Amino acid sequence: MDIEIKKLDENDRVGLRDILKNSFDTLSTLDTLELDCYIDGQQRPCQWFIARSGQGQVIGCINASTRSNEGYINSLSVREEFRGRGIGRILVQKACNFLKSHDCKSVFLYVRPSNNTAKNFYEKLGFDNCGLTKSQSLEDVLLLRKKI
Ligand SMILES: CC(C)(COP(=O)(O)OP(=O)(O)OC[C@H]1O[C@@H](n2cnc3c(N)ncnc32)[C@H](O)[C@@H]1OP(=O)(O)O)[C@@H](O)C(=O)NCCC(=O)NCCS
Repeated sequence: MDIEIKKLDENDRVGLRDILKNSFDTLSTLDTLELDCYIDGQQRPCQWFIARSGQGQVIGCINASTRSNEGYINSLSVREEFRGRGIGRILVQKACNFLKSHDCKSVFLYVRPSNNTAKNFYEKLGFDNCGLTKSQSLEDVLLLRKKI
C-alpha cells in the first residue's frame, strides 16, 4: 500500500479538519474556524503528523506536544477503512521520535475508559495504564504512559 507519513502542511488542512470532525465526538460540532483554532492551538512545541494515501487523501493523524520535558500525544485517528494495516503504529512512532528529539523521556496520553480499541492498541505498543484521572473537561479518563 502506498502511504506517506509526513508533517502537516497547508495542503492537508481540509483533510485534517475532516478526519478530526469525524473521529472525535468532542470535535464533531465545531465549525471550520473552531477546528483551525484546535489544530493551531495545541501546546507548543508541537507537531501534527499526517498519513496520506497515494491518492493524496488524509487517512490518519496524530498530534505530539511537550510540557516541561514530558511528551503528550493526542488526536490519533486512522480512517476506518484503513485500520489494521499498521498506520496507527507508525503515527505513534513518528510522534515518539519527535518527542525524543525534544528531550522527552516519557510519553503520556489520555483515553476514555470505554474506548477498548484504543486501550488494546496502546497496550500492544507497550503503554502502561497509570489509572483514572480527570480530563480538562472533568471527564474520567485513563492516563497511559510509555518510556521512550
Ligand atoms: C486506535 C487506532 C488509531 C488504531 O489504528 P490502526 O491503524 O488500526 O492500528 P495498527 O494497525 O497500527 O495496529 C497496531 C497494533 O494494535 C493492534 N490493534 C489495533 N486495533 C485493535 C483492536 N481493535 N483490538 C485489538 N488490537 C488492536 C493491532 O493488532 C496491532 O498489533 P500487531 O501489530 O501486533 O498486529 C484506530 O482504531 C482509530 O483510529 N480509532 C478511532 C480513534 C481513536 O479511538 N483514537 C484514539 C484516541 S485516544
